[in-house]
Amino acid sequence: MKKSLAVVSIAAMTMAATFAQGATETTKAAPDKMAVEQVMLNDKTPMGDLEIFSWWAGDEGPALEALIKDFEKTYPEVNLTNATVTGGSGVNAKAVLKTRMLNNDPPESFQVHAGQELIGTWVTSNRMLDLTPLFKEEGWMDVFPQDVVDLISTDTGIWSVPVDVHKSNVMWYIPENLKKWGVTVPTTLDEFFATAQKLKAQGITPLSMGQTWTAIENWENVALATLGPDDYTALWHGELAWTDPKVEMVWKNFGKLLEYTNKDASSLSWQQATDMVVAGQAAFNWMGDWAAGYMMTTLKLTPETGFGWANTPGTNGAFQFLADSFGIPKGCSNPDAAIAWLKECGSKSGQDTFNPLKGSISARTDTDLSGYSAYSKSAAKDFAQDKIVGSLQHGVVAPEAFMNDFSPVIEQFMSDRNTKTAVAACAELAESDGLVK
Ligand code: GAL
Repeated sequence: MKKSLAVVSIAAMTMAATFAQGATETTKAAPDKMAVEQVMLNDKTPMGDLEIFSWWAGDEGPALEALIKDFEKTYPEVNLTNATVTGGSGVNAKAVLKTRMLNNDPPESFQVHAGQELIGTWVTSNRMLDLTPLFKEEGWMDVFPQDVVDLISTDTGIWSVPVDVHKSNVMWYIPENLKKWGVTVPTTLDEFFATAQKLKAQGITPLSMGQTWTAIENWENVALATLGPDDYTALWHGELAWTDPKVEMVWKNFGKLLEYTNKDASSLSWQQATDMVVAGQAAFNWMGDWAAGYMMTTLKLTPETGFGWANTPGTNGAFQFLADSFGIPKGCSNPDAAIAWLKECGSKSGQDTFNPLKGSISARTDTDLSGYSAYSKSAAKDFAQDKIVGSLQHGVVAPEAFMNDFSPVIEQFMSDRNTKTAVAACAELAESDGLVK
């Protein structure tokens, strides 16, 4: 078991308690029509309408579509609607979901990140069904890593089914282009800045960036590189002060990084930022490994020859983790079909259909990696041996309130590069949004 991630989850629960107070004040939980256990006991053949909700639309869709096909083979009597709201990292989907949940109009099942995004939001406001009986029946306690289960659990239940494990500290490039430009793959932040300088002199954008959430992901990469995994985790536990000079250094390094990014970042999707690398307009892109899925599945590039990868500079030995999962909201109108969907999500066949296309690895420990790409094989190796830390942008480490408030801080910093203001703002948010115990 990887200790560091387990520790993240304990902090997550503490923070959840704080957030819960706010959430329950403003929301009224939908009635719990039926407990999962009861639905399983009834053992009805799943049929009728099933709406699943996610942000895996368009270019992000193929892995989910394959999973749905696999589901339909087993459950032909279910009429599945694949409801998606486009926008990387769920920037738009999460807002739509919130409205639906608050209006007691939930889908049967929805995509949610393991960690704070699930626990601090939907579980603390008492809106999810407890899936413990399903985990027991399916034998999932033995096949999902304990530290992943911890992230989707509280003392009172297990709240979602992980469908993948993604890594967010990956740097992508085209090997042939680096050769042409006379640079090699940098492994530290200093090396990266020196390489970036050489590329800039040749008129090449060193690092392609997209809209704000991708900047936040790059900030978390810089934070991991600057602080190292232990202090990075300490920051989310309220054990390292945001005013600490080490954290100030994170902002300084992030400011330096911004010097090497494209001017039109705020108008680009993450796919468009990846496209800049593929088209030879930029040398590197730092992005979670859904970028591998996009390059392999949509752009048909071959890992190693068509595109290369490395840890984001300064983060070797660390795996910045996130996992997508699906849960069942209370008030769901077709729990039999919803449970069938979760069975598919957690199954070996489902995971090994979905993940090779998605660029992620299976969340299960009994996966046969032979059907996975060279990239995914390397990610699986990293996951087994590296120090695991949680992603900020992708819902693992911080309560939603902090996430929402962090976005304008990053945007402000991107326009004024004022380290002191950013440090002071975050120190205040850490208090008000429940990061500090
Ligand atoms: C993440 C999600 C990934 C991928 C990415 C880009 O938050 O976990 O599966 O969809 O956003 O949209």
